[in-house]
Amino acid sequence: MKYLEELKAIEEEARAAIDKSGTQEELNRIRIGFLGKKGKITGILKSLREFSVEDRPILGSKANKVRIEIEHLLTKKQETIEKEDIASKLKTEAIDITLPGKNPCLGRKHLITQTMEEIIDVFIGMGYSVVEGPEIEFAYYNFDALNTPETHPSRAYSDTFYIEAGDIPHPSPKEILMRTQTSPVQIREMEKKRPPLFVIAPGRVYRPDTPDATHTPMFHQVEGFAVDKGITFADLKGTLETFTHIFFGNERGVKFLPHFFPFTEPSAEVMIDCGLCLGKGCNACRGQGWLEILGCGMIDPKLFEEVGYDPERVTGFAFGLGVDRIAKLRHNLTDMRVLFDNDLRFLEQF
Ligand code: DAH
Repeated sequence: MKYLEELKAIEEEARAAIDKSGTQEELNRIRIGFLGKKGKITGILKSLREFSVEDRPILGSKANKVRIEIEHLLTKKQETIEKEDIASKLKTEAIDITLPGKNPCLGRKHLITQTMEEIIDVFIGMGYSVVEGPEIEFAYYNFDALNTPETHPSRAYSDTFYIEAGDIPHPSPKEILMRTQTSPVQIREMEKKRPPLFVIAPGRVYRPDTPDATHTPMFHQVEGFAVDKGITFADLKGTLETFTHIFFGNERGVKFLPHFFPFTEPSAEVMIDCGLCLGKGCNACRGQGWLEILGCGMIDPKLFEEVGYDPERVTGFAFGLGVDRIAKLRHNLTDMRVLFDNDLRFLEQF
């Protein structure tokens, strides 16, 4: 029968076309060509009208079977093509995870900032709060209120940067300066607050020194002080020993030597044994075996009088740490200037 032959031919043709096709677009064209409104299967289904009522359902169901078969072949081929597409994409667009990545160049904190933050952390852990004072300071706070007489050598032009004050009326020549120490923050805080006070004050200080291995005209200090009823030298010793043990390690030796500072009485200098020779004496400690890390003492009653505290009721201790010197000690640097040269080859080691 001609109808069935035609149907078979259409089926073969569709099968061959689907077989040969390799892209989605080709498949679409085939779909339209056979199953679309004007497609071959649609056409042959329409032509059923020409047959007798008895033949129509038989032929119709055969034609439908072919339509379903073609649909099935199309779907299967489509799946295959999609899989192949993905496979080829995976192949050509693959990422080689064994290639080294591009290292982003991250900045880091300067060794001095790191050291400063570590010191601050230790005291925060002991309950101290952190304050800051101005770098341009009045001689009153930097010297007078700290019991430093007019004739003290540290007040000479060779030891302090003085500043000409443009808009302050009638300043005397030595009234305004770059602070030479963080100790003036003691006075500023005590003026503002009442005891108990447990405070540290980190910051920059300035002195007219020619840069060499152990001096730079700007450097960093952390000031600390405690004021309360009944504070003794034993508290000072315990606090600073705790600090040196946490910061430098338990095995390092620490000693207190008598010293003089205008704002403390008695005063002491704290030494730590040299990390390079462990106390034996070497070049780094100039044969001494010990290195100075801070100055300290019991706050002189004159300071309390200056800020209106009653020295009969409160006592206190104070200390000042040289941050740059501590960084130098800790990392066995031989020259302080490397801290300010900003040579990345040095800075990137920390
Ligand atoms: N201000 C002193 C200096 O720069 C360091 C210092 C010594 C601070 C003793 C203190 C202290 O608070 O009690 O050399």
